[in-house]
Amino acid sequence: MPNPPDNGTASSTAGREWWRDAVIYQVYVRSFADSDGDGEGDLRGVRSRLPELASLGVDAVWLTPFYVSPLADGGYDVADYRDVDPRFGTLTDFDDLTRRAHELGLRIIIDVVPNHTSSAHAWFREAVAAAPGDPTRSRYVFRPGRGPGGDQPPNNWKSIFGGPAWTRLKRPDGTPEEWYLHLFDPEQPDLDWTSPDVHAEFDDVLRFWLDRGVDGFRIDVAHGMVKDPALPDLPEGQRADLLDGSTELPYFDQEGVHDIYRRWNGIVGSYPGDRALVAEAWVEDAPRVARYLRPDELHQAFNFQFLTAGWDPEALRRVVDDSLAANGAVGAPTTWVLSNHDVTRHPTRFGAGERGLRRARAAALLALALPGSAYLYQGEELGLPEVTDLPEDALQDPTWERSGRTERGRDGCRVPLPWEGGGAPYGFGPPGSSPWLPMPPGWGSYSREAQRGDPDSTLALYTSALACRRASIDHAADLAWLDAGAGVLAFTRGDGFACAVNLGDGPAELPGPLLAPRTRVLLASGSVREVARTLVLPADTAVWLVPDES
Ligand code: NOJ
Repeated sequence: MPNPPDNGTASSTAGREWWRDAVIYQVYVRSFADSDGDGEGDLRGVRSRLPELASLGVDAVWLTPFYVSPLADGGYDVADYRDVDPRFGTLTDFDDLTRRAHELGLRIIIDVVPNHTSSAHAWFREAVAAAPGDPTRSRYVFRPGRGPGGDQPPNNWKSIFGGPAWTRLKRPDGTPEEWYLHLFDPEQPDLDWTSPDVHAEFDDVLRFWLDRGVDGFRIDVAHGMVKDPALPDLPEGQRADLLDGSTELPYFDQEGVHDIYRRWNGIVGSYPGDRALVAEAWVEDAPRVARYLRPDELHQAFNFQFLTAGWDPEALRRVVDDSLAANGAVGAPTTWVLSNHDVTRHPTRFGAGERGLRRARAAALLALALPGSAYLYQGEELGLPEVTDLPEDALQDPTWERSGRTERGRDGCRVPLPWEGGGAPYGFGPPGSSPWLPMPPGWGSYSREAQRGDPDSTLALYTSALACRRASIDHAADLAWLDAGAGVLAFTRGDGFACAVNLGDGPAELPGPLLAPRTRVLLASGSVREVARTLVLPADTAVWLVPDES
């Protein structure tokens, strides 16, 4: 058998693989950079801006889906897993992007969407055209309805976007027939992972992209795929919610998913270069997450417990301890995530205006100082807030319509990035182009151009933090908490680095030198003062300290 192709990145020693402490930047392709002026970001746009990500100092870029798709759910409805949607470019553009990223020392992670396809996928079309019982239907979850005439859905599951999780097919003459399952939009039919075809297809899809040199995959709804075969009704009143992993559901976190990941681990591991698998798994708690990270399964999982902990010192400390303990027990790194394309941007979550931004900057220093790997969502390095006032007629997230226009959905964190200039499209696309979501007036001050060269900007803070993280944090060093008083989270990483974050209401005095014999401020998210050898840390501020050897 020929050797699997190398992506040009060397494998590292077991236990010190690149992904263990990597900073991975999420590019939401549609909103990153639009090279052709059609209003939507594309792969050429991403490639053209890669040098900016390299100079920010990240290690890898995760690209959200750019596959052929009707974009019923922003591309998480894939019609062809092996091709690029013309809106986003071509396979050649993808190869050029990957090559350029590798030249710049950036790894590329792409999404794989195995829980469901698009209803425009050839398999689903074939299944719909066939009669009930046809083998092509066994790739999806088709069932007869309940009640007289099969008029009721097969069970009471709800779609995460609102409404029933089942849609009934109709023959061309209007006769109703079987129902199909879709945990998300009706245009996203769930695959049936008891079908050998489905397994074989995804093995091949992984290989297709590994052969093109990708460094890893982010697995969408990684806790989905396998359903309780009895498809039992949920207890009355129990609501399915993508962001609520706190309840047991017969379609999430089932034992069988782990067999899939053992197989995928083998596939990815047969390629050189430490390629990685990262799980999007909204499950109950850190020990449940860690089950995805056993040595023969996935490499990383997003730490959504950290994302949802809020600005609360006790909750954050508990999450840090719980996730390090649970992941440590299986030898896996922990990830630290504050935002992504599914949640309200964290400056807005942490409180409106100045205060939210202050906290967001402090939270970034916390996340980047913790042991493990960190994920950044595009625009957080600019301090972008959520856009909360998008006009209703601009909203595109399926949640909006499916909830009967009661939930606005996730468009507010997906507004295209401002790169330069004082008015839309702010360099996102060529002058005169109209971004797919309107960009607010006044966003010029958030642009990269406006922040570049300003030492107090959020961009400068992130750039310095990533450089200092490389230079001053010993990634092999564990975290040790320090007692720094109520409301303050403080810890060391070995004897060469300390981090302190003040989550209290007023200024905090850091007791004595945190690192012997004396410390100096390496980086701070706001202004800190030293009064008689005591460091005064204002509320909502974080500081990184190193030994003062002068
Ligand atoms: C999780 C993705 O992050 C989200 O954007 C998508 O809507 C669902 N999975 C369904 O694919």
